[in-house]
Amino acid sequence: MNKDVEYEIEIAEDGTNMEDILLGIVTNSELQNINPAYKTDDNVLYNADCMDIMTMLPDNCVDLIFADPPYNLSNDGITCHAGKMVSVNKGTWDKSKGFDEDLEFHETWIKECKRILKPEGTIWISGTNHSIYQCGFLLQKLGFHILNDIAWFKPNAAPNLACTTFAHSHETLLWAKKEKKAKHIFNYDAMKNGYFTEDKMKIPDKQMRTVWSIPTPAQSEKEFGKHPTQKPLALLKRIILASTNEGCLILDPFNGGGTTAVAAKMIGNRKYIGIDIDENFINLTKKRLNQITEQYKIF
Ligand SMILES: C[S@@+](CC[C@H](N)C(=O)[O-])C[C@H]1O[C@@H](n2cnc3c(N)ncnc32)[C@H](O)[C@@H]1O
Repeated sequence: MNKDVEYEIEIAEDGTNMEDILLGIVTNSELQNINPAYKTDDNVLYNADCMDIMTMLPDNCVDLIFADPPYNLSNDGITCHAGKMVSVNKGTWDKSKGFDEDLEFHETWIKECKRILKPEGTIWISGTNHSIYQCGFLLQKLGFHILNDIAWFKPNAAPNLACTTFAHSHETLLWAKKEKKAKHIFNYDAMKNGYFTEDKMKIPDKQMRTVWSIPTPAQSEKEFGKHPTQKPLALLKRIILASTNEGCLILDPFNGGGTTAVAAKMIGNRKYIGIDIDENFINLTKKRLNQITEQYKIF
């Protein structure tokens, strides 16, 4: 078992071996007229509606999209958090506008993702039963080729307080490629032989399967504040290691607390564009990214 695989995480030393894709995109398009909320050599964050930014990106420019769109589950129900009964509501951005309007919203952004993905590029979409079937249907309708659906099992999921259904303890991640015949990136060996200590279901030296056991984010990942649907870093690190190589450009149209940005920066040698409509979440992401930069300065 190669214990180094998960920790092959270095910040690019000077970036000279990589095309400066990000700078090219940000300076050679209409995007010049929009000030990013944050910009470094390898990261750019926009506080905007994702459609406003994506429509300005050129065709075929992104290697990987990770999208964690609104789940549309904020319906005034209740859930359990830290042993207490709390509202399930995540924010106004997560309220359903009804089946047809939600479907139209998902179709609009997924269509745009298809245009900006490179032919060999892939997209990940995460969701619960409230949204994932619509997204899966649309991936098929828009001509993507579905590679896998992953069940992200949360071993520490909250109990079902009403005791009327099974306790929700997983989310689904769809992985699809833009063009069926194009050769997509899949780092098979890193997934088979990597070191995934958090996952009690991963058998060392055996193929990575489609059920991933990863706990919800630890307190240490919420040091600067938390996002109501924040994903664990281990989940995003796995996705990025599996489906990108050095120099790849990653886009997250629903950046949230910036888990994708942080994971990409920890792995290193990736470019990242993140977009979120809520300024608070962009500010949270900035703090998380700056902390990594500081940590690397120390070492
Ligand atoms: C499910 S959360 C993403 C959580 C993120 N993956 C994380 O780990 O923190 C969805 C995010 O999408 C943002 N959002 C909702 N509608 C949006 C839109 N039209 N454009 C950009 N961001 C949007 C919300 O503010 C929210 O932060």
